[in-house]
Amino acid sequence: MKLKVILTALCAAASFSAFAQAPIVIKFSHVVATDTPKGQAAERFKQLAEKATNGRVKVELYPNSQLYKDKEELEALQLGAVQMLAPSLAKFGPLGVKEFEAFDLPYIFPTKTALYNVTEGPIGKGLLKKLESKGITGLAYWDNGFKVMSANKPLRAPADFKGLKMRIQSSKVLDAQMRTLGANPQVLAFSEVYQALQTGVVDGTENPPSNMYTQKMHEVQKHVTVSNHGYLGYAVIVNKKFWDGLPADIRTSLETAMRDATTFEKAIAQRDNDLAMDAIKKSGKTEIYTLSAKEQADWRKVLLPVQKDMEGRIGKDLIQAINKEAAK
Ligand code: LMR
Repeated sequence: MKLKVILTALCAAASFSAFAQAPIVIKFSHVVATDTPKGQAAERFKQLAEKATNGRVKVELYPNSQLYKDKEELEALQLGAVQMLAPSLAKFGPLGVKEFEAFDLPYIFPTKTALYNVTEGPIGKGLLKKLESKGITGLAYWDNGFKVMSANKPLRAPADFKGLKMRIQSSKVLDAQMRTLGANPQVLAFSEVYQALQTGVVDGTENPPSNMYTQKMHEVQKHVTVSNHGYLGYAVIVNKKFWDGLPADIRTSLETAMRDATTFEKAIAQRDNDLAMDAIKKSGKTEIYTLSAKEQADWRKVLLPVQKDMEGRIGKDLIQAINKEAAK
């Protein structure tokens, strides 16, 4: 009898220690390639997080939509099937936090400094707070870059967009932007864009060069216009219940890892986009056109009213506050 009690206690101790040693797993899903700013920063976060927690945390990366596409990954995060994502700021509308679509407004950020004034100040923090009622904690903003436009015809004047089917992300601001140009916007998951361009399901699209190049979109688009008409960036988010349930010391280590990964991400984003643009040029598969100052002014004149048109959806005060902050 005594032996049985001792054996049971030993077994319990063994299974407790196995349990105690099992790492906390963070499944981090995203839709872009590993050699993009977001893909590289996710890898940097994995390294930093695993090191800082002495292996008590394991970060499993699932890039390139291999686990979930855009919409599904947000549902998976809320259900707890994955713990971490970094969706583009254009993808929070369907979640019910439409204020993030302010980042999609044409010409809202004249420079990266203007953008950082917003993301790193009270406006950015306030927007992340809005996610909490959706069971999500916002950890950081990650950068990508200003967007180019592409199609199989030259896009020099706003009138060139007339009747084109343009792929967009699920943002009503991007929908309004394309309609203002006279195009027909079509929402498609990022993983479907290359094929949709190749088969003519859509005629054109927009993205920063790093996404265009790593998805080979330039190989199925005859013309790319450097227009810098809008911005694309990300919010790194976690399942709130999971995050709040972590031991405090682990959460602190992960916050530090995220801060360092974010600094790294911001340092490489512009360079990666410049390199991607050079690589697109070198490929010779598409013709690149940079808008002249006069053409920029024409685009601006047509697209700027989208900021006013979207006041009802995003909030006049928020748009004004962003413009004020960006002008500092
Ligand atoms: C897109 O869907 O076009 C991009 O925002 C994908 C991404 O995450 O960069």
